[in-house]
Amino acid sequence: MNQSLPGVRVLLGVSGGIAAYKAAELLRRLRDAGAQVRVVLTANAERFVTALTFQALSGNPVRSSLWDEAAEGAMGHIELARWADQVLIAPASADLLARLAQGRADDLLSTLCLATAAPLAVAPAMNQQMWAHAATQANLAILRSRGVQVFGPAAGSQACGDVGSGRLLEPPELVAALAAARAPGELAGQRWLVSAGPTYEDIDPVRFVGNRSSGRMGFAVAAAAHAAGAQVTLVAGPVALPTPHGVTRIDVRSARQMREAVLAAVADSEVFVSAAAVGDFRPAAVAPHKLKKADGDSGLELSLVQNPDILAEVAARSPRPFVVGFAAETEQVEAHARAKLERKRLDLIAANEVGHELGFERDDNALLLLWPGGREALARTDKGALAQALVARIARLRAPQGARP
Ligand code: C5P
Repeated sequence: MNQSLPGVRVLLGVSGGIAAYKAAELLRRLRDAGAQVRVVLTANAERFVTALTFQALSGNPVRSSLWDEAAEGAMGHIELARWADQVLIAPASADLLARLAQGRADDLLSTLCLATAAPLAVAPAMNQQMWAHAATQANLAILRSRGVQVFGPAAGSQACGDVGSGRLLEPPELVAALAAARAPGELAGQRWLVSAGPTYEDIDPVRFVGNRSSGRMGFAVAAAAHAAGAQVTLVAGPVALPTPHGVTRIDVRSARQMREAVLAAVADSEVFVSAAAVGDFRPAAVAPHKLKKADGDSGLELSLVQNPDILAEVAARSPRPFVVGFAAETEQVEAHARAKLERKRLDLIAANEVGHELGFERDDNALLLLWPGGREALARTDKGALAQALVARIARLRAPQGARP
């Protein structure tokens, strides 16, 4: 049989919910896929299923307490955390997700999740109302931002009689999802450089010229490229966003600092995605002290000079990476973006309309991708999904001609 998880050491965590009965079947399927499995039950899981079932099916002792002296003597919890190549929690209850999001270590399973260096995947299962609750969704967003894989849940009829989202994925689906998540990504071995956010150009020690870019699009591109297997460096202007899991971040403030950071990293990169909203102008001089009203009795004139165009500079290099620019336009999006693609000699441009509540400072967006000889319109959706589609398009354009789907 073609095994999808050969020799993978899976620590299967089971938390307290009625779907815990499906974890026994999941364990069988994991073993069929070639995995070695050790099981940890939470105290509440033990109310639904017995350790004996899992012990018989896994061929290994089952753990449920941090304070079990005999078990700790045989394989301590830190040793167990190190043993794992993968942690999979199925079902993951709302309470367990909350404890993981908080980084609690108040029982064996949550402690193992903190103590392991192995990737963590969770398969939530709960009542549809609990799943939809803002608190649960916020906890999931935290876990996702740390690189935790979330499998499901599925929608359908629930044990409690409700109908909706919150059903545990079926065991074969979970095994397939885990195998897919562990497969080396399409971009494995590639180095990507992404810029994101605005730039701030100082006027004096307390004032600056900036723009409304939130950085969310560039951060989403960095996260999507990393999720697809790339090694990602993210040069970020001043934004208040958490660093995507696994991404190397370099913080900068001004366009000139961004240029320096980009040029230092670009020689090593196969792809450069310039999602930053780089300020085109900066004050000709930075006042050493805070400007006083009296300094400009009849108003204040700011003299601006042009910033370097980082994207055009990278595109002019030889050799150069695959170069992707963004174009924020307020009208005639396609015509202006296509002109920019040609003028800056880009490989791809992602254009969008800004203004009128579009584009900046939002979680969603729509993008028009243009490249020499092609176009793809991406309909309005969240920036995470757009970033995935953009990364997939870049991967396709870079693939050798014969390999392109
Ligand atoms: O010409 P325009 O500023 O509209 O081009 C936008 C694209 O150029 C974006 O990808 C942006 O990151 C990049 N850019 C740059 N340096 C500048 C201005 C824009 O890299 N000074």
